[in-house]
This record gives sequence, structure tokens and C-alpha cells, in this order.
Amino acid sequence: MSDVDADLRGAADFTANPYPYYARLRAEGPVHIVRTDDFDQVWLVVGYDEGRAVLADQRFAKDWRKLPGQSAVGDPINANMLEMDAPDHTRLRKLVAREFTPRRIEALRPRVQQITDGLIDTMLPAGQADLVDALAFPLPMTVICELIGVPDLDRAAFRAMSNAVVSPAGAQEEGDAVRAMGAYLAGLIEDKRGSAGDDLLSALIAARYDDDDTLSPDELVGMAFLLLVAGHETTVNLISNGVRALLAHPDQLAALRADFGLLDGAVEEMLRHEGPVETATFRFARETVVIGSRTIGAGDPVLVSLAGADRDPGRYPRPDRFDIRREAQGHLAFGHGIHFCMGAPLARMEGRIAIRTLLERCPGLVPDPAAGEPEWLPGMLIRGARRLPVRW
Ligand code: HEM
Repeated sequence: MSDVDADLRGAADFTANPYPYYARLRAEGPVHIVRTDDFDQVWLVVGYDEGRAVLADQRFAKDWRKLPGQSAVGDPINANMLEMDAPDHTRLRKLVAREFTPRRIEALRPRVQQITDGLIDTMLPAGQADLVDALAFPLPMTVICELIGVPDLDRAAFRAMSNAVVSPAGAQEEGDAVRAMGAYLAGLIEDKRGSAGDDLLSALIAARYDDDDTLSPDELVGMAFLLLVAGHETTVNLISNGVRALLAHPDQLAALRADFGLLDGAVEEMLRHEGPVETATFRFARETVVIGSRTIGAGDPVLVSLAGADRDPGRYPRPDRFDIRREAQGHLAFGHGIHFCMGAPLARMEGRIAIRTLLERCPGLVPDPAAGEPEWLPGMLIRGARRLPVRW
């Protein structure tokens, strides 16, 4: 790889607002070499067409264990399909897709509404709340725990481990969190083997694929990890980033309150404008690939900036504008290609129910004037703030 085009390490203003950085890079071209906290040099794709193409291009692989010099053995939580390529990915995705059906998700709708109502009932009397703590975190966490069948999960402990895995403060913390999480999930699965129920984890433990293939113990840990972490680290920020955007744009908020027919489009615009996944997970080139007139060498690491792609003016005119009436379809917030988010229907349902119910029950919702600046999560994977203080 040649010299870096931009150094994105540790800049506080990059964490607070990465969009101008992506816009500056994009103005010079869709593909760049950058330095990040995790990579001394990594390709960063900031253009929409190029990002979409990379996500669907099988010349870019996900299984880093296949990189020269890597050990084939990872921690069990890495035995998940988001870190695999065909045919391993195909096999695992098929196994879980048979259980993670639109019917199973649709059947959750009344329960998602009930959990939302309960959380808002609890929150309302105080007249103020941190919306992350009161609604945006507990809703998806409760839903995914019930769906998987671990309703008694120690959520505070799990949240701390999960945060440390996806937004680590350093390599040591990340390694410790990965090991602690693996051991914790292996224990959960052992318990479940003894008390199978009508839930996703029981179904996955019992799942048989062609030729009587089944999920290995490590694959079960990997799957439980992926579903639990992907199931809540993201949706929490769909709800909180979405509400923050509405509060910052009173005209859009008023339009939505006046016509909830705009809700589905509004949620798509929230995903496009400030989606929960800033950068897709790491890929590497299996062979030399030319993209956006840059030559990516075999073995080079590549990141697709979903945040950069979804604000490409070539795809979305006036991309920084939050406009709930725009045609936001086609955004990359859920990824694209074989790793397209499995939980997208569930996340959309939760986001729509949470936002509509919140607006209906809190007519006077405003940002808390005492809140100060948001504390954004570190790293380039997740886009979201730790708190969203509001009043009504
Ligand atoms: C707004 C909420 C969500 C967003 C923005 C989101 C985003 C994403 C993205 C961008 C990817 C692909 C990453 C890549 O290619 O590097 C992905 C994959 C995935 N997501 Fe989500 N996700 C959300 C919610 C969920 C939920 C609720 C679940 C599960 C209950 C879930 C489960 C998964 C799984 C299993 C994969 C891996 C699919 C595969 O490798 O084939 N996600 N998600």
C-alpha cells in the first residue's frame, strides 16, 4: 500500500462528527488509504457505488483466519457467519434463516408494542429521562433476549461486555471482553441444553442441516454472540440517533406528528442520515482489485464507510439534510450482498414502534437543555451516543 491519504486516529472531532471528513475524502475520490486506531493503513471506501460494489464482491473476503500468517483458530465467538465466507457462511446463514423467519419476527409485533408501552409507562411520571437508558437500550435488549430464549440474562453485565467488544478502549480490553463473553455464552448454551423451549437458541441447538449437519458448540457460541450483540448494539442507536435527529429538526418532527403515514420513510431516512453502523466490518482483498481507479492489492484490508456512502451527493442530493420525505431507499445502513443484515425486519419494526409510541405518548418531548454535548461512542464501527437526555 502507498502513503496514507488521511490520518483518522484519535481526532476528537472525527468521533464527534465524522461526516465532514468523509465528505472531504469523497470530494477527492471514492477510495482512499487511511490510518485508523485499528489499522496503520487500510483502504476506506466512501463513495456509494463503490461501497455497494465492494460489499457484494466475492473478491473481498471476511474470514481473516484465512489471511497468510493468521492462526486458523479463533475464539469461539469469532465462529460466527459475519466473519465467514461461502460455503461456511452459506451453511450457517441457511441454518439460522430457517429459524429467523418473517413469521417468527411478525409474531413478535404485539410483544414489541407491549414492552415499549411498559417502558414508557415507567418513564413518563419523572418528566425527564435518559432515553437510551429508559427506552432505546432496554427495548431491543429485552426483545432479543426473549427471542433467543435467555430472558434472565444479566443485562448490565452483558451490556458492559458487549460494549467492550464492539467499542473497545484498547486491544487488552477487547481480548479480555471476547474471552469473558465466550465463556459466559458457553454457560448459557449449556443451561439451555437442559431446558429447551420454544425459542431461537433451542431451535438452533436442535437444528439439523442436510446430511444431519448441526451447529458445533463453537458455532452456537458464535451465533448467540452475533445475534445478541447485533440485536441490540445497533437498534439502540437507530432509536436514539433517530429521536435526536427529529428533536434537532422541529419542522420534520412536526410533519411526522401530523402524519404517521410518513413513519416508515422517516425511519429509512434515520438509517441513511445517521445509521447505527458507521463502517461495515473488515474485509480483505483475495486478489488484486481495481475499484474507484485505485488498485487494492491482494491481502489488503478494506473498510466500507456506510456513513460515507449514504451521504454521497451522487446518490442522495443534499445528503447532510435530514428529510423524512426523501427517497432514502437503497441506503447501505444494513449492508448489502450475502452479509445483508438478517435482523433488518426486526430492527425496522422496533424502530417504528418505539418512535411512534414515544411521540404519541410524549407530546411535549424536547432535548434536555442541561444535557451538554453528546458523548459519542469511540471507534468507527458503531455510531451512537451514550446518552440522550430529554424532557417532556
Ligand atoms: C438498526 C439496526 C441494525 C443495523 C443498522 C444493522 C446493520 C447491519 C450491517 C451493516 C450488517 C452487515 C455488516 C457487514 O457486512 O460488514 C449486519 C449484519 C448482521 N446483522 Fe444487523 N443490524 C441491525 C440490527 C440487527 C438485529 C436486530 C439483528 C438480530 C436480531 C441483526 C443481526 C445481524 C446478523 C446475524 C448479521 C450477519 C449476517 C451475515 O453475516 O450474513 N442485526 N447488520
